[in-house]
Amino acid sequence: MKNLKIAIQKSGRLNEKSVQLLKNCGLDFENYKSSLITIVSNFNLEILFLRDDDIPDYVEQGIADLGIVGENVIDESLANVDYLQRLGFGKCTLKLAVPKDTNYNDIKDLDGKSIATSYPNILGKFLKEKQISAEIHPISGSVEIAPGLGLSEAICDIVSTGGTLKNNGLKPFADVSTSEAILIGRAGLAENPILCELLQRIQSVLRAKE
Ligand code: PRP
Ligand code: ZN
Ligand code: MG
Repeated sequence: MKNLKIAIQKSGRLNEKSVQLLKNCGLDFENYKSSLITIVSNFNLEILFLRDDDIPDYVEQGIADLGIVGENVIDESLANVDYLQRLGFGKCTLKLAVPKDTNYNDIKDLDGKSIATSYPNILGKFLKEKQISAEIHPISGSVEIAPGLGLSEAICDIVSTGGTLKNNGLKPFADVSTSEAILIGRAGLAENPILCELLQRIQSVLRAKE
């Protein structure tokens, strides 16, 4: 049988728990060191180690069959992929945040302001729903530094422990959406027997945690 390919995050918040989940499923493989692809020795699966932001597109295009990635990243990508299983880890909230001495009382106070973010699509939709017209500055990382450098008045980024906000003199102001890690698949994969076996194993690992 032809191997399936699963894409997981190379490094970052979801990497360790993604690897652990696959190991808990009884899969035997060498963790990422320098090779970006590894073959599972006892299952028809290959693991690709990618930047998380790239995973939805790889799966949409069928270069990877499966992916483990944050819901926030899937939504932002606008990629057309199947949600197969919520995984219960990597929980975080996409938040608007402002410098800690800012006195905003209402979300409407963002009207006319500029907001730096790596999530311009999600933020754009949110602002539109709230009928706020703010200027979105898309940047790909280290977003928390933007207000201090004068690039923007607010930011919109993922908050998990809140440590990054705090260390950069910011305070959360409003929640945009919540997220957790999700197993996604390319369209048309549903009946694949390797996927069925993997899903069963994942679900029993998740059940054992309850
Ligand atoms: C998010 C966010 C911050 C960090 C916040 O990054 O961009 O860098 O997590 O976490 P904290 O509240 O625990 O300090 P993410 O893990 O999504 O990685 P990426 O932005 O590099 O893709
Ligand atoms: Zn990322
Ligand atoms: Mg980040």
